[in-house]
Amino acid sequence: MLHRPPLPLSARRAKVLGGRVRVPGDKSISHRALLLGALATGRTRITGLLEGEDVLNTAKALNALGCPIKKDEAGAWEVFGRGVGGLEEPVADLDFGNSGTGVRLMLGVISGHSMTVRLTGDASLSRRPMARVLKPLELMGLEVLDKGRDTLPLIVRGSADLIPIEYQVPVASAQIKSAILIAGLHASGETTVIEPTATRDHTERMLSYFGARVTATKRQGLRAVSVKGDGELAGGDVKVPGDPSSAAFLAAAALIVPGSDVSIEGVLVNPTRTGFYTTLREMGADVAFTAERIEGGEPVADIRVRHARLRGVRVPPERAPAMIDEYPVLACLAAYAQGETRMEGLAELKVKESDRLAATAAGLLANGVAAKVDGDTLIVDGGRSVPGGGLVATHLDHRIAMAFLVFGLGADRPVTVDDAGMIATSFPEFRPLMEELGAAFAQPEAART
Ligand code: S3P
Repeated sequence: MLHRPPLPLSARRAKVLGGRVRVPGDKSISHRALLLGALATGRTRITGLLEGEDVLNTAKALNALGCPIKKDEAGAWEVFGRGVGGLEEPVADLDFGNSGTGVRLMLGVISGHSMTVRLTGDASLSRRPMARVLKPLELMGLEVLDKGRDTLPLIVRGSADLIPIEYQVPVASAQIKSAILIAGLHASGETTVIEPTATRDHTERMLSYFGARVTATKRQGLRAVSVKGDGELAGGDVKVPGDPSSAAFLAAAALIVPGSDVSIEGVLVNPTRTGFYTTLREMGADVAFTAERIEGGEPVADIRVRHARLRGVRVPPERAPAMIDEYPVLACLAAYAQGETRMEGLAELKVKESDRLAATAAGLLANGVAAKVDGDTLIVDGGRSVPGGGLVATHLDHRIAMAFLVFGLGADRPVTVDDAGMIATSFPEFRPLMEELGAAFAQPEAART
């Protein structure tokens, strides 16, 4: 595991933000393109792949499993697929760094191969629950050698002979659903996942695109997704759209800094991902989706956000899956909105890269904003002055770091995050892109001495 010194960074109040930019490729789709490309036959050529640490760790792991992946001269990534069940046992541990998506989806892949693998991750990932994916995968035939263990490092043994299952997922999680569907490719028969609330559907879309037999139906009001095993996937070209979760930081910044007008081109607007933008509109924001189109089987648009005065709203729990990664930045934005913002149904935030409920509330409190956690609800009382001047503990969490750097763009005094280094996991271009729009970041004084 790599250890690097923390990189503190401060954000100062910005004058105005403006411009037209692109954000890097969607993280969820990037992971899936590599993983499903590896299980396909033939070559998969990916343009717009997110080159963040999380995704690169997935590529490295696939390489170690015998799947060649390389970047061509035009900047596209080529995956030379090994076919369903065609990967090889690695000689060393697979290290997933900070990425829950990488390790959980890979557990689905490993399940279908008779190989023994040791999986590791950084301090944040090693605290995150794995039983949620291990449980259904064990029903299918995965063996966990350290039985009963819920966290990394883990040693697991897959099987070339998986059993198809029908599984009702207890929490809304696209990672659990995807791990089961990917394992289901290796089972003889039909595997079905029933979700409590619909979550991001990129795995289903890409599986269909690669020729798998996938169906989605309603069962007693719940979404049931099935995949037929024992088929082949055919590799193809994948164009990864811009990540709406990364674009959210730019959109929030434009809403915090008066006079701003920011356009973000080519952003994924799949309805399972746009809850944040729905919420912004309810708060009174001026958000326009233009040039809506379908690219690589996914809806894409250009997003324009102009500064407006916002009001606090109640964000209902059923919207959480469609904006699960955007709550830290929404809470930071809510500090600038008039009145109370109540974000409900956020239990899942406690098991992200950090306990995001606690980390977000603590960061706001450290900067003079009234915020509290009440069970699974996060409440921010906004619209008063935003003093800033505080130091935010990021707990190895990229989104906490970016949310509070954006927050600092409107505060009276600079806001410092204790470590901006983790931003490289999902959005390496965050700082230069924000600076291109007019944001001002600097190393805090204490860090320079
Ligand atoms: C993801 C699913 C979500 C999300 C994560 C990416 C995915 O996690 O928070 O950043 O790509 O499937 P959960 O499945 O834990 O909700």
